[in-house]
Amino acid sequence: MSFTHQRSEFPDDFVFGAASASFQVEGGWTDGRGASIWDSFAATPGNIFENQNAETACDHYSRWPEDLDLLAEAGLDAYRFSIAWPRLIPEGTGAVNQAGIDFYDRLIDGMLERAIKPFATLYHWDLPSTLQDRGGWANRDIADWFADYASLVQRHYGDRLAAIATINEPWVIARLGHQFGVHAPGIRDLRAYARASHHVLLAHGRAIEALRAAGAGNLGIVCNLQKCEPASDSEADKAAAHRLDGTFNRWYLDGLFKGAYPDDVVAMLAPWLPDGLEDDMATIGAPLDWLGINYYSRALAADDPDAPVFGLKTVDGPLEKTEMGWEIYPEGLTDLLVRVSSEYTSLPLYVTENGMAEVPGLDDTRRVAYFDDHLGAVLAARARGADLRGYFAWSLTDNFEWAFGFSKRFGLVEIDFETQKRKPRQSFKAFQNLLGGPRGG
Ligand code: FCB
Repeated sequence: MSFTHQRSEFPDDFVFGAASASFQVEGGWTDGRGASIWDSFAATPGNIFENQNAETACDHYSRWPEDLDLLAEAGLDAYRFSIAWPRLIPEGTGAVNQAGIDFYDRLIDGMLERAIKPFATLYHWDLPSTLQDRGGWANRDIADWFADYASLVQRHYGDRLAAIATINEPWVIARLGHQFGVHAPGIRDLRAYARASHHVLLAHGRAIEALRAAGAGNLGIVCNLQKCEPASDSEADKAAAHRLDGTFNRWYLDGLFKGAYPDDVVAMLAPWLPDGLEDDMATIGAPLDWLGINYYSRALAADDPDAPVFGLKTVDGPLEKTEMGWEIYPEGLTDLLVRVSSEYTSLPLYVTENGMAEVPGLDDTRRVAYFDDHLGAVLAARARGADLRGYFAWSLTDNFEWAFGFSKRFGLVEIDFETQKRKPRQSFKAFQNLLGGPRGG
């Protein structure tokens, strides 16, 4: 099974990778790792599909050599992985866990031995529980806690990392974790949401400053952007789509690149935002080297005067959907990449996640088509001037898909969670064919 697109359509130094996240794959709740907010969220009945947990997950903590071999076999250039804060600093601040330091030493060295570029993410949602006890993302002090943790990562691994991203998907952290409560820490409170929306960017900015001071280079952040479109041609729905775009995309992009949050979103959240936002904008806008964009789908917004705060609802769209129920819409990726590069930044861009949940099985021809179409969308964005430097498939293997547990499968490689046996799917083979076979082969 092959893609219609060819490697030769991309520049020679274009990076092809696959992505994962510590909590979703590692397991290994051992060797001094501290508890994370996702441990207790998953232990709370009703939060996760069939009350599953990630205590073993993909056992990447032990099986990482096999997973790195798979990346190499696919011919991929890079691995986007995340570091578990509670594995390095079990209480979030203070004492460091040497066994945790050693684990990422092995993992990073294992990548370098296989000529795979390590793209590290500092925070992919597994906050140390002790920091949640101190208010977590609602407490402004998190910016300092996070900057200290970032410095530690740079001190230990900085010489070997190809790139560092501070935060994965600030919108998800703020909104799903603190307004909707469907992600850890499971809070449903507008004040917590508004504060988290700001503190997550402030923590990013402080971490960038700390990383630079420690000599780090090639720094970025990863935002999940969603194409927000009106559910109808009515003026009311168009305005609703603009508001949704404000909370989803403009809050983060304006904050990072324009030095001020969008007025309309500030007005909607005004009662719950902290004072003195303006004083933090220079830190939030600390210069970056690249921007990562995670893209899955679009959202259709309809005006809903009865809906509190934002006055809108999202509605089901007519396009073909993935197993997550997300519409397949590659054009949205092109549009977002072109928009970001024309309205926000001329920085190099990476698609840091893209992929689809599909029914179980190895014969994932629909996923092959999904990747192929989105690679085409990347090429179209490049042709329209977006400085795209790389593309990471989500995900290398099936894994713990947050509130959906193991019920949603995104992997290029299937995992049988009873036996931990890995089996490459057709989509894995399509990347292998695109990239010319195993690395060095
Ligand atoms: C993104 C997350 C990633 C995975 C995919 C499907 O929002 O960053 O961990 O869950 O969605």
